[in-house]
Amino acid sequence: MLEIGFGMGDSLVEMAGTEEDKNFVGIEVHPPGVGCLINNAGKQDLQNIKVYMADANDVLEDCIADASIDRFQLFFPDPWHKKRHHKRRIVQPAFLDSLLPKLKSGGVVHMATDWEPYAEHMMEVMSAAEGYENAAGADNYSPQPEHRPDTKFQRRGEKLGHGVWDLIFKRTA
Ligand SMILES: C[S@@+](CC[C@H](N)C(=O)[O-])C[C@H]1O[C@@H](n2cnc3c(N)ncnc32)[C@H](O)[C@@H]1O
Repeated sequence: MLEIGFGMGDSLVEMAGTEEDKNFVGIEVHPPGVGCLINNAGKQDLQNIKVYMADANDVLEDCIADASIDRFQLFFPDPWHKKRHHKRRIVQPAFLDSLLPKLKSGGVVHMATDWEPYAEHMMEVMSAAEGYENAAGADNYSPQPEHRPDTKFQRRGEKLGHGVWDLIFKRTA
């Protein structure tokens, strides 16, 4: 399992603690978040988390073997609300093309956001990308799976009255 942008890492530590038979890799650029995750994983003596403090695009390109990921997670990424900033959103066709070979066949891409226009953007870009299929059927969002704990940004969004949209796609070949 690989997660980009785990923030302070609470939900990643919780998942790693619940699924101790799986290996978890987290990538985050924010040093306090990385420190917090390492500290909390150490307190629970978790042996199944590895962390990169680096830009996820570089890590994906240089450090992740092809066909090695069975679950990719991107939860509540920066939505870049202003139209002129939309190109900074991580979910873009080029990003999905570079992610695809890293997934095992049948591997899953799981994204979530609390910002409806970004959910629509994710759905549009994911649905148009070659090699992915919506696990919930065309244009459908997925219910939040039991294995995904609420995240810090999810709770922040809920306090602001935002909804939550989960998208789950599978690598088809
Ligand atoms: C809005 S926060 C969400 C944090 C967490 N997933 C949550 O739901 O609480 C987005 C996170 O993505 C991280 N991030 C943004 N771009 C990144 C990149 N290119 N590589 C790694 N982390 C990135 C940011 O540092 C930030 O912690």
